[in-house]
Amino acid sequence: MSRELLPELEQAVNIRRNFAIISHPDAGKTTLTEKLLLYGGAIHEAGAVKSRRDQRKATSDWMAMEQQRGISITSTVLQFEYDGYQINLLDTPGHQDFSEDTYRTLAAADNAVMLIDAAKGLEPQTRKLFEVCKMRSLPIFTFINKLDRPGREPLELLDEIEQELGLKTYAMNYPIGMGDRFQGVYDRAGQQIHLFERRSHGSKTALDTTIKLGDPRLEDLLDQDLYYQLKEELEILDEIAHDFDLAQVHAGKMTPIYFGSAMTNFGVELFLKSFLQHALKPESRHSSLGDIPPTYPDFTGFVFKLQANMDPKHRDRVAFIRVCTGKFEKDMTVSHARTGKTVRLSRPQKLFAQGRESLEEAYPGDVIGLNNPGVFAIGDTIYNGQALEYEGIPCFSPEMFAYLKNPNPSKFKQFHKGITQLREEGAVQIMYSTDDFRRDPILAAVGQLQFEVVQFRMLNEYGVETQLEPLSYSVARWVEGGWEALEKVGRLFNTITVKDSWNRPVLLFRNEWNLHQVLADHPKLILNSIAPVGS
Ligand code: G4P
Repeated sequence: MSRELLPELEQAVNIRRNFAIISHPDAGKTTLTEKLLLYGGAIHEAGAVKSRRDQRKATSDWMAMEQQRGISITSTVLQFEYDGYQINLLDTPGHQDFSEDTYRTLAAADNAVMLIDAAKGLEPQTRKLFEVCKMRSLPIFTFINKLDRPGREPLELLDEIEQELGLKTYAMNYPIGMGDRFQGVYDRAGQQIHLFERRSHGSKTALDTTIKLGDPRLEDLLDQDLYYQLKEELEILDEIAHDFDLAQVHAGKMTPIYFGSAMTNFGVELFLKSFLQHALKPESRHSSLGDIPPTYPDFTGFVFKLQANMDPKHRDRVAFIRVCTGKFEKDMTVSHARTGKTVRLSRPQKLFAQGRESLEEAYPGDVIGLNNPGVFAIGDTIYNGQALEYEGIPCFSPEMFAYLKNPNPSKFKQFHKGITQLREEGAVQIMYSTDDFRRDPILAAVGQLQFEVVQFRMLNEYGVETQLEPLSYSVARWVEGGWEALEKVGRLFNTITVKDSWNRPVLLFRNEWNLHQVLADHPKLILNSIAPVGS
């Protein structure tokens, strides 16, 4: 492709913002997503996304639903426009369908929005997802939600983020009251108060009434005690807080904080505007050729998620590709870095909520879905022009383990083939006992659903009925330095050693406490919760 494309690419990159929401179930991710789409004009009435959530909550129906519809229901990217920006919201599966895909999605994101319930503060799933963002130095924007309900003190929440996540905070706005007495937020940059008007559930975009701090009308509009409290706390903030530093935000070291109430729409648009102004646009990515800017003229991208259709009659698989550089065009032919083969990218899909539309072109920061007849694996690079490869997507620490047994020896070959393919596809990690007598593979997953998917697909695609034998471990750590380092530390208690698919030692612990014990006893032992893909 030629240089003439440059202005078009620059323009496309400048208006693109891509992000994923990280949160714990029930913090309000679906609600916030819906409200963002409402402002983006992608939906006209709240409720459209929610019905999808209600369906998803019933996990037992999940496979049945996949079968009935013949399409994947876990949508992957929601694209909408606002204020001249083209926004890609990468959907991270939550709830019971929490799996490695949730982590992998963050490999395709340029920014993260950390959504926190004001009454609960930081919760386990948010912390785990934060660790992945931290590893990638993603800019993190924090939305503290549910201010219309009683919650924890705002300053205490900021302190928790600083202390526990090691992130500097900068409150972009600050709440006035909470729960029944929630009266609005003070926007520090605009130096004005946005008044909260209680409306029922906010199915339409919210009204936004603003008034300057110091305006005499505020005496009547706000409860006096809250007004004084606001002034006092703003003074504290000015004194103790860091200055806003966009470079630190972009480096993932400082998080801008926004307060609001997604359910009533309050603070959502204020957040969206500020986010768009400060978020990172698609940036250079590290590759075997060095850092490649998004305006590099040839099309390149990588696979971050594969999704298999559970319907045996429509056994298609979709590969989700993050466009990194150049322009994607329907039916283009690309090279596949891992196999060296040439692949025609036909039938591309743009994914929006429940439907799939066909897609003609895409730019850096966008995600495309391609039908994948077994060509792609997680982390694969595709490119035009000069050969290059992006860094693979790492293995994330699994938390659930079970031997997968094949009770029928005549199915040995199919069993082996199925396991190998599902592993390559990234449906689950596979580990093995170091004991030569125990040949059954150990499935290692971050969510229960991954086990169910493996058993279902082993039966339906490979014709093998399998049995699970759960193991009571919940923490896995890769040993830095491999077998040699492990031998040096000598005998370890309260842990077992297994090997991953690349024959690297992995220690399994029953709980975090045992892990800490081993670490305390062996200060030289370095253990990692995330490992690069092996080769
Ligand atoms: P999730 O996707 O992160 O799991 O959260 P979701 O949006 O489903 O929200 C979880 C619950 O929290 C929902 O209540 C939702 O209405 C509520 N919620 C979300 N944002 C706010 C907010 O700003 N204020 C208040 N008060 N509640 C909020 P639910 O009872 O499960 O559902 P519903 O009966 O409201 O539909």
